[in-house]
Amino acid sequence: MIPRELLGVGKVPGHSGHGKELRCYRHDRDYSIWIDGIELMSSRVHGSEQALAELALDKLGPKAAPRILVGGLGMGFTLARALALVDEQARVDVAELVPEVVTWNRELFGHCAGNPLQDPRTHVVVDDVGKVIAGATGLYDAILLDVDNGPEGLSRPANNSLYNRPGLVAARAALGRGGVLAIWSSGEDETFERRLRDAGFAVKAHRVRARITKGPRRIIWVATRA
Ligand SMILES: C[S@@+](CC[C@H](N)C(=O)[O-])C[C@H]1O[C@@H](n2cnc3c(N)ncnc32)[C@H](O)[C@@H]1O
Repeated sequence: MIPRELLGVGKVPGHSGHGKELRCYRHDRDYSIWIDGIELMSSRVHGSEQALAELALDKLGPKAAPRILVGGLGMGFTLARALALVDEQARVDVAELVPEVVTWNRELFGHCAGNPLQDPRTHVVVDDVGKVIAGATGLYDAILLDVDNGPEGLSRPANNSLYNRPGLVAARAALGRGGVLAIWSSGEDETFERRLRDAGFAVKAHRVRARITKGPRRIIWVATRA
């Protein structure tokens, strides 16, 4: 049996500075990132991460030189799919909280998603996507959020502020006219869906499979400024 090999550990900045840890493993040719014993991401399963970009950009429709925000980077599958669907003049900002994740993409598993960090349209920033959202007004055509396992702060408690009403109102303000907010989740959450509507979004919940045609069901909310 091929053993699983620990390749790196990265601290997730938390509220108090004592954050959790992300662990990067290789098993044969597959890579995975874990937090608290939960697999956050794997190079084997990325259909729904790609669907996040597809559904958001489909909703946005054809647009010249769009400005997109992806948070977080993970293994780069959402980023790579977004890059494939926008034009050469597009700009895709990526906010990733954990610096080691950016290093792992550059040095370990970037090839799994086709090295999207090397694309000149990609602008990566090591920061909280919530901060990037708060600093943007009417800037983005689409914001693609996949930083936890759903609308609650798994990576760190402070991420809850992305999903509460002020966080959603900030995301709405960061979008331009016709802008789209898309959020990945491992499961249903009707309360969150209602909160999206209360924050001024028109919402559709898409049910997709983790591996495109098979695997567990995932939810992707596609929300537009109502
Ligand atoms: C599930 S992975 C993203 C997977 C990604 N969609 C893909 O296609 O590979 C979640 C990522 O979000 C990052 N993250 C967690 N909280 C964040 C935050 N507040 N701002 C930016 N990145 C964050 C994590 O470090 C991790 O790399």
